[in-house]
Order: sequence, then structure tokens, then C-alpha cells
Amino acid sequence: METVLSGIRPTGNLHLGNYFGAVQSFVKLQDEYRCFFFIADWHSLTTHPRPENIRQSVKTILAEYLACGIDPEKATIYVQSDVHEVVELYLYLNMNAYLGELERVTSFKEKIRKQPDNINAGLLTYPSLMAADILIHKANKVPVGKDQEQNMEMARKFARRFNTIYDVTYFPEPESFHFSDKALKVPGLDGSGKMGKSEGNAIYLVDDEKTIRKKVMKAVTDAGPTVPHSEKPEPVANLFTMMEIVSTQDTYDYFNEKYNTCEIRYGDLKKQLAEDINTFCTPIRERILEIAADNAYMDKVARLGAQKATESAARTILEVREIIGFRP
Ligand code: AMP
Ligand code: TRP
Repeated sequence: METVLSGIRPTGNLHLGNYFGAVQSFVKLQDEYRCFFFIADWHSLTTHPRPENIRQSVKTILAEYLACGIDPEKATIYVQSDVHEVVELYLYLNMNAYLGELERVTSFKEKIRKQPDNINAGLLTYPSLMAADILIHKANKVPVGKDQEQNMEMARKFARRFNTIYDVTYFPEPESFHFSDKALKVPGLDGSGKMGKSEGNAIYLVDDEKTIRKKVMKAVTDAGPTVPHSEKPEPVANLFTMMEIVSTQDTYDYFNEKYNTCEIRYGDLKKQLAEDINTFCTPIRERILEIAADNAYMDKVARLGAQKATESAARTILEVREIIGFRP
């Protein structure tokens, strides 16, 4: 059976971008595959070296994972830092990762621009740690958003390189996975391309109805088209993309028709969109609050996940040590 794996850094709450870009796929895949979903708390140190309350941040994501429908009976849900074997594989991969290729990774270049005072080795070797996360369970499919393509390319490269150097066919080459024919990019509603926590434009799953309404009503639009069937400028196209994601086909078609005949009233569209986002988020929010209040349950899930993930990881490390030539 093929293995699916993915992770998210605990640097804030889950937003619609995370959900539709990644988490939705996790939920759908857990019935059919051997699945691992983890919380990448070590990775978060690359940008937040002195986390304020890392345990709380991890719990937040854990509650949100569970509220979205990831089932700990089906999938292994764990915290990265609970599985020490990952570090050993990270070390081996780093020995065959070259400065030049790591420096060329776009997200590294972006991050050193954003944090010039903290260009740490962890940031440089972010792709090796991510590859270790993936290869430790010999994962085949990795559901991630478009922004992770280059990290995935590196993971494949490291897998191939390991196999070549030690003359084995051990690690499978992991591929990115998305449900639709291409990776989904959930747009921001502020006219910018992508929804994200660092972009400051995110609608969070845990946002209450009023907050969501406020965020949507604030979305950037324009004066409206004057020529039938004109192309949608980006901020307007983003609203329609969001509608495509959360609303029914009928609703989308209705407003699209209004746009094409130049009768669109953005106030109406936003009201509908806010309502549809709320219909989607409200039950999830209620579950998040319920699960987040149940510390005993979350501890149990994390402990069980750590145990299952460690078993799988330990098996890999044993084999890797043998392949390289260490005492198993
Ligand atoms: P991040 O919140 O940037 O750590 O991303 C966690 C996961 O959510 C990754 O797989 C991202 O590719 C995905 N993701 C984040 N924002 C978006 C977005 N706006 N559209 C699609 N996927 C996203
Ligand atoms: N880099 C991913 C992100 O920023 C998080 C991540 C870490 C990850 N390790 C992973 C995703 C392994 C998939 C597989 O969102």
C-alpha cells in the first residue's frame, strides 16, 4: 500500500488556504492509504527560534487537524519533535546536500530577504529536514500546495542521490499530490495572489461568523465591468475563485452571469460569499473549540501518534544504518 505524508508548521491557526490547499486532501486520502500527518515544530524554529509557546501552538494545530476530520484511528497524527529518528536521517541527508543547491532554493532566498539578521543553517537545510520527514516513512505521495514544489523537487533529488551513492533502490521518489489536476492556490481577498498568515489576509477556520463577514466585506473590488464578458481583474477574479471553492456551482454561475452582463453588485456577491464561507467554517469552528478544551484527548492522540510514527521511523533508520555501513 502506498504511503501518504504531509506536515504543517505550527506558526498560527489553519486558514482556508491550508485547508483547501492541503488538509482537505489529507482527509480524503486517509481511507485508502497508509497516512502520516504531522506538525512540523522543528521547522518552525527556522523562522521562530525562540517560540513563545510552542506546545500551545502545536496543540492548536492538532485540534484543528482533528476538527477538519483527520481521524487518529485511520491516520497517524504526530508531532515532528516526538520522532527523534528524523534527526538522524536529516544528518545523513545533509552529508550529501550541497551548499550551492541549498542556496538556490527560492524559499531560502525569500526568507533571508525577510530575516537578514537570522540566516541560520536550519533555514539553509530546511529542504533536507523536509526530505527526512518524507523519507523516514518512505512516503510516495505528499499533499502540499504549489509553494512547496521546489522543496519536493529537493526531496526527490535527495532520495535519488541516496540510492545512487549507496547503490540501492531503497527510497521511493515522493511526488506532490493534489486532488484537482493542478495544485490549488487559494487567493487572498485583498487583491494579492495568495492567502497566507504572513500575508495578513487569511480567513481562519476558527474565525467567528462576524469576523468572517467583516473580512469578506472588506475584500478589494473595483467599479464593475462596463463591457459584457470582459476579463476579470485580479481582485475580482480572486473573489470568484474563492466562490468556486466554497459555494455551489449554481451560486457561482449566477454571479458569473451577472458579471458577464455587467449587472454585478459586489456587495451582494460578498454577502453571499461570506455566508457560504460561514456555512463551511461554522461546524469546523465548533469542533475546534470542543476538541481544544479536551486536553486528555489531545494528549492521547499525540502519544499514540508518536508511538506509531516512531515504530515506522525506527525501521527505516535501522535499514539506513545497515545500508551506509553502521552497526544496525
Ligand atoms: P503554510 O501555512 O505556509 O505553512 O502551509 C501549509 C500547507 O498549506 C502547505 O502545504 C501549503 O502549500 C498549503 N497552503 C498554504 N497557503 C495556501 C494557499 N493560499 N493556497 C493553497 N495552499 C496553501
Ligand atoms: N514545508 C512545509 C510548509 O511550509 C511543511 C513541511 C515540513 C512539510 N515537512 C514537510 C510538508 C514534509 C510536507 C511534507 O508548509
